[in-house]
Amino acid sequence: MIRPILLHPDPRLKKLCDPVAQATEDLVKLARDMLDTMYDAPGIGLAAPQVGINKRLIVMDCHKAPTPARPLILFNPEVVWYSSEHSTYEEGCLSIPDHYADVERPEAVTVRWRDETWAEQEETFTGLWATCVQHEIDHLNGKLFIDYLGLMKRQMITRKMEKVKREIARGGR
Ligand code: NI
Repeated sequence: MIRPILLHPDPRLKKLCDPVAQATEDLVKLARDMLDTMYDAPGIGLAAPQVGINKRLIVMDCHKAPTPARPLILFNPEVVWYSSEHSTYEEGCLSIPDHYADVERPEAVTVRWRDETWAEQEETFTGLWATCVQHEIDHLNGKLFIDYLGLMKRQMITRKMEKVKREIARGGR
C-alpha cells in the first residue's frame, strides 16, 4: 500500500523518533508499505517519520541495474563506525521534491540494525548506500539534508516548499 509522504516544512519531520521494541506484524506491514511508497515515488530511501510515524525505522534500496533489487528494512539503525574519508553526493529527499544539493558525509559507515525477523544485522556501506543510510538515519533524529546547507539556501528551499504546499492545499497540483 502506498502511503502519502509528508512534505517539508512539517513539524513531524523535525522530531526525534522512538526506538522500536519489536518487529510486530503492524510494523513489518508498515515497512513493506514504505518500500512500496519508496519504489513508487521513485526513491532510494524512506524513513518512517516521512509517512507520519514517529518510529526508528527506515527502508532503502540503492541498487543500480543490472544488479538485482535489494530492499532493506532497518529497525533501530545505528552507525557504529564512520570512515575518516568523506565524499560529496548531490542529495534529494522525497519530502523536499525537486530540490537537490551537495552534501559532504563520511564515505563509508558501519551500521547495526534489527531486520524484519528481529535478527541483528551489521554491514559496512560505501558509496551511494553510505550516503543514503546516513540521510535516512538523520530523518529519525529530525534532521533533513537541507540542514547541512547555508541558512540562505535552506530558507530559500523552505519558502519554495511552503508555496508548493499552499498550492496543494488549494488543489492547484
Ligand atoms: Ni529524505
